[in-house]
Amino acid sequence: MADFNTLDGVNVAGKRVLLRADLNVPMKDGVVGDTTRIDRTVPGLIELADAGAKLVVITHFGRPKGARVPEMSLKPVADALAKQLGRPVKFADDCIGDAAASVVNSLKEGEIALLENLRYHAEEEKNDPAFVIELAKLGDIYVNDAFSCAHRAHASTEGLARALPAYAGRLMQAELEALGNALEAPKHPVMAIVGGAKISTKLDLLGNLVAKVDQLVIGGGMANTFLAAKGVNVGKSLCEHDLLDTAREIFKKAEAANCEIVLPVDGLVAKEFAANAPHDVCDINDVAADGMILDAGPATIEDLNKRLETCETLVWNGPLGAFEISPFDTATVSVAQHAAELTKAGKLLSVAGGGDTVAALRHADSDQAFSYVSTAGGAFLEWLEGKTLPGVAALRAS
Ligand code: 3PG
Ligand code: MG
Repeated sequence: MADFNTLDGVNVAGKRVLLRADLNVPMKDGVVGDTTRIDRTVPGLIELADAGAKLVVITHFGRPKGARVPEMSLKPVADALAKQLGRPVKFADDCIGDAAASVVNSLKEGEIALLENLRYHAEEEKNDPAFVIELAKLGDIYVNDAFSCAHRAHASTEGLARALPAYAGRLMQAELEALGNALEAPKHPVMAIVGGAKISTKLDLLGNLVAKVDQLVIGGGMANTFLAAKGVNVGKSLCEHDLLDTAREIFKKAEAANCEIVLPVDGLVAKEFAANAPHDVCDINDVAADGMILDAGPATIEDLNKRLETCETLVWNGPLGAFEISPFDTATVSVAQHAAELTKAGKLLSVAGGGDTVAALRHADSDQAFSYVSTAGGAFLEWLEGKTLPGVAALRAS
């Protein structure tokens, strides 16, 4: 049983439903790029509209810090949302006050409005009580469908849950259920793959994961810091030499928790960071002083793919190499595709999210096959760190 209210059995007919979405999508020259967050929000909106709600969607966009920055208007997002819904979306050019009220009051059952950027008001990020009250005037009930903003204790993500009857939206519910299955009550053995450039940004995350998973695979630039901590010469590779002791502490913590830390045994080593840079496959102990490890090598790939076959659950954050430049995407692509195949065969529960991860999985053409790919960046990382997300905590308390 979920310890938060879902929309199951809630009668929304004729009610003004104030729904916090995360429509903070990539945008260039007024055109929405990747529409994933819109696509994933739409089914929940349709469900509510079809049940007769007067749907008032609120979201932030970018970081205007309280100023009405024209490039951060949600008007183009309203158009993209309408297109994806196949229904009209009314737009109010402010999220509070008369402009918002008149659009909200004009809504008939089943109609949808989007209000202008919450962060045009500095009070949003301050979780200002008076601003919460202004927002709360626009709804009879509050639905939080923005898991990817749940790490922010803002008026629209935290304050509102205390001001109105509060429910988790369908996307929020799906995220919480998928993430719970992967880490809170997973089937063991559990493997976590954590990649990316630096361990300095992921220390809390690594510390939390060693206590929860059976195997922690460290990839990307981060792996070099761990290798160096074990005395491996990583040449000119990206490496945080000031964090070797920290890496050693994580090894110790892992050992105490019976978690195996898995590092690359070989790499693709080049002399420059560039696409198609000449490179050699090197045993991890034979990296030249002027060499840079840009990807895991074939023996590592084989090792990881074999290990995956014995796992029940996979949590993935961050690429295994410099996946933006070919051929240093090889390990990320190969392991992602293997995880996707095992998932399709019903042998693995695979959950991924955070930062570059979705782009990397999409590059590997594997994102669709994963059990669940989170829409969240920062919130996914904080969840991996084991932190309480204020947006989720407020739903649980309400
Ligand atoms: C995100 O893109 O990670 C969320 O929309 C949160 O945005 P923020 O980092 O600006 O709070
Ligand atoms: Mg962010």
